[in-house]
Amino acid sequence: MQKRIKQVEASFLKEIAGVSQPADLENIRVKYLSRKGQIARLFSGLKDVAAEDRPSVGQQLNALKSKAESIFSERKQQFESASKGDEDIDLTLPGRRAVLGHKHPLSIVQDEIKFIFRGMGFRVEDGPEIETDYYNFEALNMPKNHPARDMQDTLYITEDILLRTHTSPVQVRVMKSQQPPVKIIAPGRVYRRDTPDASHSPLFHQVEGLVVDEGINFGDLKGVITAFAHKMFGSDIKVRFRPSFFPFTEPSAEYDFNCVFCRGKGCRVCKNTGWMEISGAGMVDPNVFESVGYDSEKYTGYAFGMGVDRIAMLKYGISDIRLFFENDMRFLSQF
Ligand code: PHE
Repeated sequence: MQKRIKQVEASFLKEIAGVSQPADLENIRVKYLSRKGQIARLFSGLKDVAAEDRPSVGQQLNALKSKAESIFSERKQQFESASKGDEDIDLTLPGRRAVLGHKHPLSIVQDEIKFIFRGMGFRVEDGPEIETDYYNFEALNMPKNHPARDMQDTLYITEDILLRTHTSPVQVRVMKSQQPPVKIIAPGRVYRRDTPDASHSPLFHQVEGLVVDEGINFGDLKGVITAFAHKMFGSDIKVRFRPSFFPFTEPSAEYDFNCVFCRGKGCRVCKNTGWMEISGAGMVDPNVFESVGYDSEKYTGYAFGMGVDRIAMLKYGISDIRLFFENDMRFLSQF
């Protein structure tokens, strides 16, 4: 009898340790702990044990029963708490997607412009958006009452302080702070008193370029602008210069790139001309060199502007400049 008790205990312990799902546990309960289970059967065998051994065998049986019951209920609890956890976590739910931030299209284009010019040896400079009349106009050969000031409707803060209308004042600041050779670009925001429409915004972006050294000529300007156009839009894009006027350059030009949509053939976007206006450029006027203290007999230089918003509109096929400034996530998240 004692041997039987040991056997039952051993096989119970072995089986309960191997349980992996609640159904197994129920089988074990039926096999060992139910009314007709193995432990109950041992109890009914007690009557055949010799009378003098009965008390001690009875004790052993009771011990086995309570041990088996407590191990069983412990295992049962483990399963119950594990399955409760499963109810809290629905593993079939789709995950939450983390939204990645990204650059504004104007930043992407401005970074690309900077990258291309850096590759050609230009340094990137910076200047204030709130400027004085002197840097924005006067030093750029536009004295007070000069009719050319009308080209740029200006937002004045006081009579003498204004929001810069172009990035050209950075030319003056750079030349006043260093001697030639100069080879810089200056990207940044500019402001004009324009009524917003699809192609005008009172805030927009330019990149200024300035190169000053001995023997710089108009051919250098054309070469750099053409190299830029090819790197930015592809080497089939042609560049053309048209005579124009700016008080701070002489001679002055406006320059166009082949329309990037039709590559010069003519389409709706370029109004069938095959060309897109980019900005102005020219050889630095000797009067500007005078106002910054450069020797205009020794040095020559070229300067150019570049409309960042316009280039971004071309690159991405955007038809309304106001989209850049409305912060509509449906628009911004496409870049
Ligand atoms: N600053 C001029 C503009 O805003 C562009 C320009 C820059 C022209 C440099 C000539 C030289 O229109």
